[in-house]
Amino acid sequence: LRHLLTLDGLPKEILCRLLDRAGQIRDTALGRTQRRHSLDGATVCTLFFEPSTRTRSSFQIAAQRLGADVLNFDASTSSTRKGETARDTLRNLEAMGVRGFVVRHAEDGAVEALAGEAGEGTAVINAGDGRSAHPTQGLLDVLTLRQAKGADFSKLKVLMVGDVNHSRVARSDLHALRTLGAGEIRVCGPQALLPQDDTLHGCVVGDDFDAMLEGVDAVMMLRLQRERMEEGLVASLQDYHDHYGLTAQRLTRAASDAVVLHPGPINRGVEITDEVADGPQSLVLRQVSNGVAIRMAVLETLLG
Ligand code: CP
Repeated sequence: LRHLLTLDGLPKEILCRLLDRAGQIRDTALGRTQRRHSLDGATVCTLFFEPSTRTRSSFQIAAQRLGADVLNFDASTSSTRKGETARDTLRNLEAMGVRGFVVRHAEDGAVEALAGEAGEGTAVINAGDGRSAHPTQGLLDVLTLRQAKGADFSKLKVLMVGDVNHSRVARSDLHALRTLGAGEIRVCGPQALLPQDDTLHGCVVGDDFDAMLEGVDAVMMLRLQRERMEEGLVASLQDYHDHYGLTAQRLTRAASDAVVLHPGPINRGVEITDEVADGPQSLVLRQVSNGVAIRMAVLETLLG
């Protein structure tokens, strides 16, 4: 594996190896405080053209725990403001000795295009591009599910809810769930926020949240991505919450041991209530801590 750009087509063997390694890391002191030296002498750059809290910070922590130096590139104070392209930015940083780029970009396909420009020996990791892919989020989500429900996904009923159309997380989660053989993938949201292409092939699709919740083992809530939406696509936040907000009352329709995931950032009171987000069935912070382990496993695999 030279770059990690998407989970679409990533062989199950490689995906499972990354999950296994991240699980090992989590179970040892390495996942918390201990440092190792597998990336000593390497420099990793977080090249983010869009905001981030979880992905950027966890990649930084992951790289540092592996012994790498980390350069946090700030697009807002860089020469991209003077018109320098992302390609020239990457090539200039590469000339300074950066070996690993963790890239987030607003445009679909932009990270793959940058990877095509990178020199031999440089690894590019997609940290989220447009609505296309967010592979490390997909990996950490299925790692979190696997820890909660076991490695056999064949009997799992998973429900994904909300703004699927604008969500790169949803696309990467769907690829990972299919690769791991999830028993049933249900997708629920307002018609206007569901993709009309083949993204949802093989999924059970519906717009009645209460009905779709019946008996599911896991509920993957998605953020309403208002920054990517045309005005008027959602009538009002209250209306959205009334139809697609996960409340404690609604959650009783799922299996009694169902777990709840959300990639963050959360619009509290819109897609999920505080009671559920902070409640006993929520794995939201588990996802975040798994993010460090997954990113260590990915960096080790590509650069170690
Ligand atoms: N889940 C996620 O990608 O969060 P950030 O945008 O904070 O990185």
